[in-house]
Amino acid sequence: MSNILIVEDEPRMRRLLEISLGEEGHTVHTAQDAEAGLKCFQREAIDLILTDLNLPGMNGLEFLQEAKRWNASVPVVVMTAYGTVETAVEAMKTGASDYVLKPFSMAEMRLVINKELDVQRVRDENRSLREALGKRYHYQNIIARSAKMQEVLAIVERVASTNSTVLLGGESGVGKDLIARAIHQNSRRASGPFIKINSTAIPDTLLESELFGYEKGAFTGANASKPGKFELADKGTLFLDEIGDVPAPTQVKLLRVLQEREFERLGGTKTLKVDVRLIAATNKDLRAALEQGTFREDLYYRLNVVPIDIPPLREHKEDIPDLVNHFLLRFNHENGKRVESITPAALKILMEYHWPGNVRQLENTVERAVALSASPVIDVGAIQLDSGGRSDPAAGSPVLPEGMSLEQWEDEIIREALRRANGNKSQAARMLGLSRNALRYRLSKMGVADEAD
Ligand SMILES: Nc1ncnc2c1ncn2[C@@H]1O[C@H](COP(=O)(O)OP(=O)(O)OP(=O)(O)O)[C@@H](O)[C@H]1O
Ligand SMILES: [Mg+2]
Repeated sequence: MSNILIVEDEPRMRRLLEISLGEEGHTVHTAQDAEAGLKCFQREAIDLILTDLNLPGMNGLEFLQEAKRWNASVPVVVMTAYGTVETAVEAMKTGASDYVLKPFSMAEMRLVINKELDVQRVRDENRSLREALGKRYHYQNIIARSAKMQEVLAIVERVASTNSTVLLGGESGVGKDLIARAIHQNSRRASGPFIKINSTAIPDTLLESELFGYEKGAFTGANASKPGKFELADKGTLFLDEIGDVPAPTQVKLLRVLQEREFERLGGTKTLKVDVRLIAATNKDLRAALEQGTFREDLYYRLNVVPIDIPPLREHKEDIPDLVNHFLLRFNHENGKRVESITPAALKILMEYHWPGNVRQLENTVERAVALSASPVIDVGAIQLDSGGRSDPAAGSPVLPEGMSLEQWEDEIIREALRRANGNKSQAARMLGLSRNALRYRLSKMGVADEAD
């Protein structure tokens, strides 16, 4: 059974949880504020933390941050009052594993806790298995000290040697390109071509001819025949970036290639067969697109054979010091400079930032710092974080995550609620404390179509 730490200021609730979880066979530690909670966490071998978000003194979010800093692998479940889902979502972004809205039933609470403990157990087993084999994953040019990135690499390792289609998901700048290349380089196709095509960068009308090629005279301007990317990628890997933006007619053709491995050039009659491994990437929630009917379900399932979700940088901040060193080396090399390290104060700024643009933004920030730094050690003055054009981020503690507008933040919360409700809008509305109509109005403002239900 497990060691559970409960942090809750309200005595009756604390007692109730203590008894109920104790009855389950867990060893329960309790604390009435964050400070006491932290002490206990640092002293005992805790397997899971259950904390209220609304605490006197250090609040629940700060507590969560501190706890994660101490040991990021211990799951933290947060409790928060109905109607304050925003804080719950913020807690999830800070690294909470799940949240429970008050008032809750003990059955519900036990369910969440058991689920978290199960997940943790599987992770631990995987980890100890790997450790027993001395296995940590190293890929050239990929920084992945954190457990989250190690998990990504573990899947990369398993999938690279197969021919499975891979769907890479993750926000902009998290490393989808990098991971796609790693899969190719570690596959049996490594000596074959790696061809990339970005559907957003190509006008809809040209995308098909780019993918499948065309014969002379297929359309005005087609003065000579041209092979498409699928042909070019034969015996290698085709990386389809921004798959969510592929228009409907092209989706049909893609589906056919995936099913039958054959196609014709535009205006051509000869059926071509190719041996191509497809890796697709998206920074959108393709599930939402499915719900809206803008992305074909059959294609989605063909693509989503092996999903790899790359976490945003704010969820694996432990990697920031390594990433900074990695980029320092690179930019020194590129610019012939000798900026060797970074002061603890400057690193602290980088560790605390929210990184809406993920690793790419960190990379740019380090590049700028190297350029600006007159000394061999980067200090606070050389760190410039663009706050997305918003004014005066220094005034008081930030209310919003840095780099986000209120609107973006609201949209995120709504999307998160929809995800948690598996797309069920009534349930999402309830989670958000909104009426269905109010949610519908907000969704339409966000450009999310409504006809789905
Ligand atoms: N784990 C990592 N280790 C080292 N470098 C990284 C890592 N993750 C990302 N990078 C670097 O960050 C930059 C952005 O990564 P990449 O282009 O792969 O992101 P992306 O997810 O494809 O972004 P987008 O959605 O905007 O296309 C690249 O220069 C990449 O080399
Ligand atoms: Mg990319």
